This record gives sequence, structure tokens and C-alpha cells, in this order.
Amino acid sequence: MKKKVSRRSFLRKATLGSAALTTAPIIISASPYEQKILLDRTYEPLAFSANDQIQIGLIGSGIQGIYDTTAALKVNGVKLVAVCDLYDGRLDRAKELWGNDLFTTRDYRALLARKDIDAVIVATPDHWHQKITIDAMKAGKAVYCEKPMVKNFVEGHDIIKTQKETGNICQVGSQGMASLGNEKAKQLYEEGAIGEIVMLDMYNDRYSAEGAWQYPIPPDANPNTIDFDTFLGSAPKQPYELKRFFRWRNYQDYGTGVAGDLFVHAFSTLNHVISSQGPNRALATGGLRYWNDGRDVPDVTITLYDYPKTDTHAAFNAAFRINFIAGSGGGGGFRLIGTEGEMEIGQNSVTLKRSKLGMVPGGYSMIAYTEATQQKIKEDYAAKNLESRASSLETGTTIWEAPGNYKGGHYDHFHNFFQAIRAKGNIIQDGTFGLRAAGAALLANESYFNKRPVNWDPKEMKII
Ligand SMILES: NC(=O)c1ccc[n+]([C@@H]2O[C@H](COP(=O)([O-])OP(=O)(O)OC[C@H]3O[C@@H](n4cnc5c(N)ncnc54)[C@H](O)[C@@H]3O)[C@@H](O)[C@H]2O)c1
Repeated sequence: MKKKVSRRSFLRKATLGSAALTTAPIIISASPYEQKILLDRTYEPLAFSANDQIQIGLIGSGIQGIYDTTAALKVNGVKLVAVCDLYDGRLDRAKELWGNDLFTTRDYRALLARKDIDAVIVATPDHWHQKITIDAMKAGKAVYCEKPMVKNFVEGHDIIKTQKETGNICQVGSQGMASLGNEKAKQLYEEGAIGEIVMLDMYNDRYSAEGAWQYPIPPDANPNTIDFDTFLGSAPKQPYELKRFFRWRNYQDYGTGVAGDLFVHAFSTLNHVISSQGPNRALATGGLRYWNDGRDVPDVTITLYDYPKTDTHAAFNAAFRINFIAGSGGGGGFRLIGTEGEMEIGQNSVTLKRSKLGMVPGGYSMIAYTEATQQKIKEDYAAKNLESRASSLETGTTIWEAPGNYKGGHYDHFHNFFQAIRAKGNIIQDGTFGLRAAGAALLANESYFNKRPVNWDPKEMKII
């Protein structure tokens, strides 16, 4: 493989503070067309004693709160002591999963007031992230705040300010960025494996009611088992409505649509892999075409982003496409395309295909010349030493794959969080990183709802 693009010498080390990619590659399989290499990682051990547990509380014990807590509890020396939620059924479920000793409450302030809690996971709907995250840091807690860090980008600056003022840790929860696949992609990019970046192609196709956020509503949900007024929080007052409570993503008052739900993960990965602060322009189109269930966010969208040239990457364009309606198959993709190849980046794998711009014409344009002229043209190209496609690069595909027992990006993200708490080490997705990812994603909403392109200052994190 061609070696390092020299001007990238400034780049950060391609490893996490507390976990590093192993250096000696193990080839799993190889053929002339494809080789597979095992990805693996060594972890810095988390030093702790029996009475030195990190005690955590969960605020928002819904779907992601459960996935988060499950991942967090896999890290050594972590104990869950309290859970807060606004629906009694979720507090019952928390006890079912983690034991009857848990302290449970509907009031997150009661959880924050507990001195035995070191850190909290904030996994509420988006419109509550900023207030709870700030209150938690002010109460002396380390915070793992789910993505998108904020519902509106202007809210993010106060999180960053509070983080600086309190000195407390705030990790934002786009866990994929901490994964082996993302880390390997960063390393490959920095080595120049795809040359200069030209384009990012991201898509997510979800052809089911659940994929389109039509989550089930439990039969015991009623005004007594749910605190609907607290759920509304700073959002406009509304009469009690179960759909809003359980399918909050579908409403701009509480969620951020596909931008905050899905784009933000892609921006976290992209900004991490290419060490970027983000795009400077967005243009979104789309519509609400099928899921007319009361929602006010689109179910199909295409958003285009411009990334300006920086020290770490060339100017390029990114296309994000979401389809919640129909097609065959479904699934997602994240393909980074450069002048010398492309990478499909996942959490558990990276697939690299190397190629180069073909400069020598094929049969298509030669057909209109006489045989003698064709021969002359071929000789001229050969004399100039121009390459046809892939002639100077390895052909075939290289796949780096995580082992079957890999604990996953979610574990790695929490490992980094707890390591930072114990050793006061670096957080890989702090408030500033989180706002750059969320801000870029939320530009899609600004553009879509205002029906115009939006310019963004990625350094200062504000709309121009
Ligand atoms: N990182 C990821 O891959 C990922 C995946 C899914 C969701 N998320 C994020 O996680 C968050 C939660 O999403 P979800 O799918 O779990 O939603 P959910 O509706 O399943 O869970 C949210 C829970 O928060 C509770 N809640 C609401 N307001 C509260 C408040 N003020 N105090 C305490 N509890 C409150 C609700 O009762 C509900 O149980 C969202 O911000 C979402 O974007 C992240």
C-alpha cells in the first residue's frame, strides 16, 4: 500500500487513550481478490479496588437507556444504583433487569442529589438533554449524554461552558466512533489509503414500522402511570397524548428527526476519521410521504453537505440519504471515497478497495478513429507513462474484521468514559466534539424546514 500522505503529519495518534489497536495483523484469509485481516485491541486495565466502584444512575430508562446501561455494566468496577423515568412501567422494568435494590424515582433531581452517585447516563428524549446534562455536571456528576447532544445547536454552548466551569466529564453518546472499525478507518485514512477524500456516501433504509419509529404503546400507559407534564418540559404545552410520549421522535417539539437520530452518528465517525470540524453548508430536501400518523418530520430525505478544504482533508461533498418507506432489503452504508480508493466503514469492520483514476482511454472513445490513429494514440499514452485504472495499485479488496468476541463500540465508548473518570484522562467525544457533530446534523433540519441552503461556521459552531 502507498505510504503516508506527508502533509498529514500533524494528525493525532490514531488510537484511543485507553484502548489501542493491536499492531501485528493476523491474516484470516487471502485470495488474489480479497484478503481478510483480524482487527483487535488491547485495553489499558481499569485499576480499581473493591470499595472503589464507580456508581452510576440512569436518567431515561427507555430503549437506549437499557442498551447504554447494559454496555456500561460490562466495564469492570461499575455499579448501577439508581434509575429515573417518567413512566412507572419503565421503573418496574429497571428493577426486573437490575434488581429490587435500585433507588427509583420520577424526579431526576432526586437522583442527582444522591451523594453515592459518581456518574449519570442521560438517555431521555432530545429536548431534555441540555438541562439534565448541565444540572448533572453542576451536581458534581460525570455525564454520559446520549446523542444528539442537544435538540438545537444554540443549546450546546452552555454545555461546553458548564463542562469547563465545573471541570466535570461529559461524554456524548455516538458510540460507533469508539469502535474498532472506526479506529482502523482513521488509521488507514491517515496512512493515505484512499488518497485525498472526494466524497462521502451515507444512506439508511428502514422498511418497517419500528424502523420508522412507530414504537409500541403499552396497555397500562395512562395519566397515573405517566408524568406527561414533566415529559413536555420546555416544549409547548399539549393535552396528554400517548403517541407524543412514546413516539416523541416523530415530533419537532421533542426530537430532531433523522438528522439528530441518524446523521449525527455519521458526523461523529466522519469528523473523527478525517480529523475535521465539520461541513460549512447544507441543503436538505425530502418530505413526509407515507407515515401520516400525526408526525411532523420527513420520512424521506436527501441532504447534501459541503466540507471545505482544511489541513486534514481536501474539499469534498457528502450525501446523506434516508428512506423510511419502501425498497428491497434495507440497511445502511457509509462509504468514504478518495482519489486512490474507497472505504466502507462500520463498527466491526472496514472494507478497503484501492483504485486510481484511469487516464488511458478504452474502446468507447477510440471507435471513431482509424486503426492506425488508435495505434498512434496508444503509443502516445504509453510514452507518457499514464496509468489505466488500478494499474499501479493493489487490486482486490482488503477487509479488516473484529473478532467474534469483540465487545463492541458501545463497550469501548463506556470504557473510555470510565477510564477518564478514574484517571482524569481524555474523553474522545466531549461537548465540543458532540456539538460539532450535532450542529452539522441539525443543519439538515434548518435547511429542510426553512427550504433554503444553510451556511455553518464549524469552528465557532454557529449558523452564518
Ligand atoms: N446512541 C445510539 O445509538 C442511540 C440509539 C437510540 C436512541 N438514542 C438516543 O437516546 C435517547 C433516548 O432514546 P430512546 O429510544 O431510548 O427513547 P425512549 O422513549 O425509549 O426512552 C426515553 C425515556 O426517557 C424518559 N423520560 C422522558 N423525559 C424524562 C425526564 N425529564 N426525566 C426522566 N426520564 C424522562 C421516558 O419516560 C422514556 O422512558 C434519545 O436522545 C435518542 O436520540 C441513541
